[in-house]
Amino acid sequence: MTIPTHIGVTMDGNGRWALARGKQRTEGHLEGIKSLRKLVDCAIRYKVPYLTVFSFSSENWRRPKSEVEFIFKLLKKFVNSDLDKLIENNVRVRILGGRDDLEPALKTIIAKVEEKTRSNTGLNLNVAFNYGGRLEIATAMKNIGQDLLDGKLKICDITEDLVSSSLFTAGLPDPDLLIRTGGEQRTSNFLVWQAAYAELVFLDVLWPQFDENWFVEALEKFSSRQRRFGGIETVT
Ligand code: FPP
Repeated sequence: MTIPTHIGVTMDGNGRWALARGKQRTEGHLEGIKSLRKLVDCAIRYKVPYLTVFSFSSENWRRPKSEVEFIFKLLKKFVNSDLDKLIENNVRVRILGGRDDLEPALKTIIAKVEEKTRSNTGLNLNVAFNYGGRLEIATAMKNIGQDLLDGKLKICDITEDLVSSSLFTAGLPDPDLLIRTGGEQRTSNFLVWQAAYAELVFLDVLWPQFDENWFVEALEKFSSRQRRFGGIETVT
């Protein structure tokens, strides 16, 4: 089995899982935390260097306020309950996304988890939170535009590498594999620039039911794909 260097995961289907069981949608998100732990554990055991999970999109603000607040609380809960274990497992955590519109308490917790895990050298766990691919590209364009105006950059300096290094994911390799659970077959603004050559695997399982078997199924699908990056297959 080929192990991807970087896997991105859209954890979809929490709401449907809960509603099908007569529960509140928020209970699905709570259950989703357990699947997130299973995923992180798989990534460590299968030696995946980079894992990025989509946990709150910049479009999710359109959901009812109570659900948005619940997901915000979940990030705090996840950090508070799992930080010691993440440190013990040598996991480095980064939170990717817009910070400006987050409440101060959340900014503090984000700074804490990033700071406490900064020197860890094992799995790189990126939590995309208040993240949107288009928002990320627009933010990068603003920063590049400002550098042009300030004379720090010339037009000819604008290269693909410069754009990559201006995104929230600066310094991280592009994802090789994007997994989405929940049955929908779209990328929904996740890693728009970075996933140009990623293999897409859609799993017919609701996120709270995700486990190692599904992880292996995604890796097997990935391993069976031929990646050519716009070139042709080489014959040796
Ligand atoms: C999508 O399911 C899921 C989310 C918007 C939240 C994902 C959050 C977690 C898995 C918990 C971990 C969270 C953090 C912050 C670490 P959905 O609600 O769109 O499901 P549906 O498509 O069935 O409605």
